[in-house]
Amino acid sequence: MEKYTLPELPYAYNALEPYISEEIMKLHHDKHHATYVSNLNVAIEKHPEFFEKTAEQLLVMLDKLPEDIRTAVRNNAGGHVNHSMFWESMAPKSGGEPSGDLAKVINDNFGSFADFQQKFNDEGLKRFGSGWVWLVKNELGKLEIVSTANQDNPISEGKKPIIGNDVWEHAYYLQYKNVRADYLKAWWNVVNWQEAEKTFSE
Ligand SMILES: [Fe+2]
Repeated sequence: MEKYTLPELPYAYNALEPYISEEIMKLHHDKHHATYVSNLNVAIEKHPEFFEKTAEQLLVMLDKLPEDIRTAVRNNAGGHVNHSMFWESMAPKSGGEPSGDLAKVINDNFGSFADFQQKFNDEGLKRFGSGWVWLVKNELGKLEIVSTANQDNPISEGKKPIIGNDVWEHAYYLQYKNVRADYLKAWWNVVNWQEAEKTFSE
């Protein structure tokens, strides 16, 4: 039985510059992500038997959680898992295009890598308010682009995230102001396709 903890960033706060500023990364990781982790612990302390579950497991069993903590777990285990995935799906000196099987399946599903990026950006832009845009493997093993509201994660719907971008204002406002489209475009420069290929083939 262990409490949930904030993972360290796998690179320096300034490693994703100029695309994502050091200031955003510090606040995003040390404040926003940290708050989801601490609020998740507060919620689970009311039913400590659930400390046995990983945060991902909690998101897959939301229906089975006690009602008094269900919304808090949905939001905060969601926030914790989403951000943990997000840090891993980016890396300095990355971007470009995937290779191998993932590249092939993206081309088969979306026509081309450029079409895939366009559709992903569109979905991210269309998400009203706060949320995420994802490339997921669905129940049938096919790729889909989906967006989720707030801190919902596709694993609650039986879909496996391959990459995900955070379109909450806290992810871009300090650098891109209200122009989410510019942030979505710049983000491709830091996507860690190596990690995505690993996740895809698991
Ligand atoms: Fe975020």
